[in-house]
Amino acid sequence: VTLQSPSGPAGRAFSFVGGTDGTWRITRSSAVIGAALPEASRVDVIESMVASPPPGALWVLRGVTSNERYVTRPERQLLVARQPPLGRPEAACAALIPIRKSASWWDLTQDERREILETRSEHIKIGLRYLPAVARRLHHSRDLGEPFDFITWFEYSPEHAMRFEELVGHLRASEEWKYVDREVDVRLVRGAL
Ligand code: HEM
Repeated sequence: VTLQSPSGPAGRAFSFVGGTDGTWRITRSSAVIGAALPEASRVDVIESMVASPPPGALWVLRGVTSNERYVTRPERQLLVARQPPLGRPEAACAALIPIRKSASWWDLTQDERREILETRSEHIKIGLRYLPAVARRLHHSRDLGEPFDFITWFEYSPEHAMRFEELVGHLRASEEWKYVDREVDVRLVRGAL
């Protein structure tokens, strides 16, 4: 059963279904902080809001794309100039990283959050160094009452796998990540049986 997915300015809805079906095969899944996800073998990425778990689903994570919250105009220009699309044939590796941030993060004001995310943690500045190797899509889940606040999705080619590890290492060591209270890191490869 699917609900109508928001489209246009409101964003696009996505459901990530962990189970036995889907184009992406899970190579590893680990809890970085907080509880893990039940062990699944594949992830099906569905471009709609799945209302109830499909048969065989072990977990479903849902989110919507949205407007940017923190990006400045100059940053956006750099991002737009460098960011590649999802679905590149050579980008056979993916990372699905759902993240929840603590109540103390959400108690901050917008300008305080920007200060931590970029001025002190350089999330965007660091991230830009990994473009165009890494393609990404950010989904918001917090306002949907989901277990995570964000579902992040990344695609990269096997030759850039080590660079991706370096990137997540930088971010996890940042001040911003002190506010992450649940994070699961799911890695996948496309298509393989
Ligand atoms: C590939 C390089 C990356 C770039 C260029 C990048 C860029 C960005 C940008 C521009 C935003 C702010 C969006 C906004 O204004 O609302 C953002 C948010 C976010 N990114 Fe990244 N990022 C990268 C990698 C990562 C990685 C590897 C992770 C997870 C391990 C991650 C997790 C997040 C999360 C959770 C948010 C939402 C933060 C919040 O709104 O509190 N990013 N990213």
